[in-house]
Amino acid sequence: MHTPPPEPVDWQDDTPRSRRFDDIYRARSNALAQSRSVFLAGCGLPERWRDRDQFTVLETGFGLGLNFLTTWATWLADPQACHTLNFVSVEAYPVSFEDILRSTRALATAADAASDLAAQMPLLAQQLALFWPGIQPGLNQCSLAQGRVQLTLCVGDVLAMLQQWPGQADAVYLDGFSPAVNPDMWSSATLGAVAQHCHSGTRLATYTVAAQVRRRFTELGFSVEKCPGVPPKRDRLQVHVAHAHSKTD
Ligand SMILES: C[S@@+](CC[C@H](N)C(=O)[O-])C[C@H]1O[C@@H](n2cnc3c(N)ncnc32)[C@H](O)[C@@H]1O
Repeated sequence: MHTPPPEPVDWQDDTPRSRRFDDIYRARSNALAQSRSVFLAGCGLPERWRDRDQFTVLETGFGLGLNFLTTWATWLADPQACHTLNFVSVEAYPVSFEDILRSTRALATAADAASDLAAQMPLLAQQLALFWPGIQPGLNQCSLAQGRVQLTLCVGDVLAMLQQWPGQADAVYLDGFSPAVNPDMWSSATLGAVAQHCHSGTRLATYTVAAQVRRRFTELGFSVEKCPGVPPKRDRLQVHVAHAHSKTD
């Protein structure tokens, strides 16, 4: 299989939009605060990775890497962080490295500029420069921060990639555009495949509170909590796994 050409991103006043899905990758303002609130706090981070040797985050939809870079920057700033951060992300349509960089620069000049984290994002993104042009369909491994941050980029359709990646996740970020425009990322089969990577204690987080997503997690036996979001989003979802699913469930 050959590497597909980079997915085009339409930039409208610093808001990145997908032509394929007619949805935005992230809001123009508050994007960093959204990522921290919905995904990191939603999964109990940074607290849950403290005093651990390893911690693994699984993400559906790498997009412009905002969640990855936010997680990495938060990990860097935390003196009690786990020794190794594994970040595994599934992406069917990788964007260009230039668009990843552009996104981080836009964040650093937008409403998030006051945050030290925002200023770091372009510097961290630059470290993907050597790795990004060589990505291929399938599992791509990138070792960063002297090996203490391991990025696994699974290039391909979500279901196939979730079946190919063999690991277990301590946290899951579900970020695949809205279920209304991209039902495949939220289908019963996809969420069931995500559940195969969860163990007792895994936490999942997303910005969508769509009824079908809540219902599916409830069917899987997970506990679902609707929480207040960060504007412009009204809500976010946190999901706790008490009893994990075996491969045969
Ligand atoms: C909202 S964006 C992700 C934003 C990203 N998490 C970030 O922090 O920048 C959703 C991503 O899901 C990807 N995607 C959509 N459908 C997919 C599928 N069936 N399999 C894998 N990835 C998919 C899109 O290409 C897009 O990059």
